[in-house]
Amino acid sequence: MGENIQGGTRRVVVLGTGGTIAGRAGRAGDNIGYTAGEVGVSELLGGIDAPEGIALLAEQVAQVDSKDMSFAIWQTLAQRCAHWLAKADVAGVVITHGTDTLEETAFFLQSVLAPSKPVVLTCAMRPATALAPDGPQNVRDAIVVAATAGVRGVVAVCAGTVHSAFDVQKVHTYRVDAFDSGDGGPLAYVEEGALRVLRNWPAPHAATQVFDRVAGAVSLPRVEIVVSHAEARGAIVDALIAERKRGSADAVQGLVLAATGNGTLHHALEAAALRAQAEGIAVVRATRCMQGRILAKPDESLRDAGALTPVKARIALALELLAASASGRIEGG
Ligand code: SIN
Repeated sequence: MGENIQGGTRRVVVLGTGGTIAGRAGRAGDNIGYTAGEVGVSELLGGIDAPEGIALLAEQVAQVDSKDMSFAIWQTLAQRCAHWLAKADVAGVVITHGTDTLEETAFFLQSVLAPSKPVVLTCAMRPATALAPDGPQNVRDAIVVAATAGVRGVVAVCAGTVHSAFDVQKVHTYRVDAFDSGDGGPLAYVEEGALRVLRNWPAPHAATQVFDRVAGAVSLPRVEIVVSHAEARGAIVDALIAERKRGSADAVQGLVLAATGNGTLHHALEAAALRAQAEGIAVVRATRCMQGRILAKPDESLRDAGALTPVKARIALALELLAASASGRIEGG
C-alpha cells in the first residue's frame, strides 16, 4: 500500500499507473526505444521537493503502457481517488499516467468522481532514463496544482500547462508539450511553483450513483468507434449488428461514429448506422475535428456528442448505458 516519503501537515497522494514517465530505455539518448511502465512511483518522486507543509505519499495502482488501459484499472483508480480524497488532511491526488490515453482516464474520472478536490493527471513524453526527462518537472508541477487551495476537478498537467478533463487532447506524437485544450484554452499555467489561473475549475456535482454503479460493474457496456471517411462503407456496422442478432453475450450496445466536420457521415455509413439504431444499438455522432463542437441541426436522426471527441463520447455513452441497465434492473425488480 502507501508509503510515506516526506514529512508535512497536509498530504498529496501520488498514484502510479505506468506510462513513459515510468519508462526505461537501454541508452540515455533514446527517447523512443524504451519500455513504458518500469520505474516505480516512489522512485519517480525521488529528488522532488514537496511544497512547504505538504507530505507526499506514493501508491502503485498499476504499471502499464497506457495504450493497454482497462476498465479494471479505471475502477481501481476511481476507488483509490475516492478513498484518499475523503480524508480531511489530503489536499489532492496526483496520478502518473501514460500520455496515449491520459485524456480518456481524465474524462472517465471526472465523469465518475466530479471531485471537489483536485485530481491531477501527469505524464512525460520522454522516459525516466532520458538525458533530459520531462517527467520530474511535470510531477513537481502536478503536486503544486494538487496542493493549491481552491483547485477542484480532474485536470491534466503537462509542460507547465493545466488542462480540463473535458477539453484535454493529446495532439503531438513527439513534442514535450503534447497536449492542447482546443477552443476552450488551458485552465492555468504553473510557473515556478505557483499557479496563474486563466479560467474557472470544473464544477463538482454529486456523482455518488455513477461511482457506485462503476464500482459494482464487471465491465463497461461495449461501445465501438467507427470512423467516417472518403469511401466509407457500412460493412463494419453491419457485422456488429449481425453479432448482436446472433445473441453474443458481449455484443455491441453502443456505437460512436467519428463524423466529418459538423457531424456529417458518408451516406453508406449513415444508412448502416440507422439500421443499427433500429436494432436497438445506441448511436452517437462525434466530430473527427480537433477543435469546435457539433452544432445541432433540426430533424437529425442520429444524436450528437457536442464537443466530445470520439474517445470521450465512447466513455460518456458507455456510462449512460450502464446507468440505463441499472435503472432497468431496478424497474424490473
Ligand atoms: C503510454 O501512454 O503509456 C506510452 C506513451 C507515453 O506515455 O507517452
